[in-house]
Amino acid sequence: MRQSQERLFIGLLLVIGLSSLAEPSFSGSDLVPLRKQDMKDISAAAKAISDMFLDPTTYDAQAFGNAAQTISAKSGKTIIEHFNFEVPAAGSDAKADILEERDHFARLADDLKAYADALGAAAQKNFGEMTSDMRMKPGEPMSGGPFGTDVSAKRLGSIPAEHSFHLMLQTCKVCHARFREKHQ
Ligand code: HEC
Repeated sequence: MRQSQERLFIGLLLVIGLSSLAEPSFSGSDLVPLRKQDMKDISAAAKAISDMFLDPTTYDAQAFGNAAQTISAKSGKTIIEHFNFEVPAAGSDAKADILEERDHFARLADDLKAYADALGAAAQKNFGEMTSDMRMKPGEPMSGGPFGTDVSAKRLGSIPAEHSFHLMLQTCKVCHARFREKHQ
């Protein structure tokens, strides 16, 4: 009897121990570096795309498409989920406003993904050289900012990829200005 009680106790310990290991939650110590790393990856991908627009002879459809895919995968839902909690948090520059203005924040995260997907589609259409279709025409008006912009695939498919790219960079700026602590 005593022995079986002991065994039950050990069994319970194991179950509790394992279930706490299996819990699929982030702790502050891993979520903040994770989302910061995602932002760094987004930034590196945007830089790679920017370099190709600056010097179209370096355009590589595969690399351009991969960079767009990186931004797409790390934006939208991924950003929204990673800033759902641990806001504010130690070591994080995320502002509490994110929780107060969830819809605005989510809209910017989704816009970022829409622009990245438009860039990915452009790379698939232009697998040889960077065609003039991808470039902004001299004097082309930069219609629409990140507010109230129509980011449907249809509309973004009708403007040059370079234009979508500039709108994407505005989205980064707007989100940071509103939702990220400034460093002196
Ligand atoms: C929807 C809002 C939003 C968008 C859009 C967004 N960011 Fe961020 N970004 C943030 C927030 C919030 C932080 C602060 C994260 C933290 O410290 O927890 C951040 C942090 C960063 C950082 C600093 C990471 C670090 O190591 O501290 C970089 C770099 C960055 N973003 C680049 C970009 C670039 C480039 C784009 C656009 C291509 C972009 N972000 C778009 C919200 C956004």
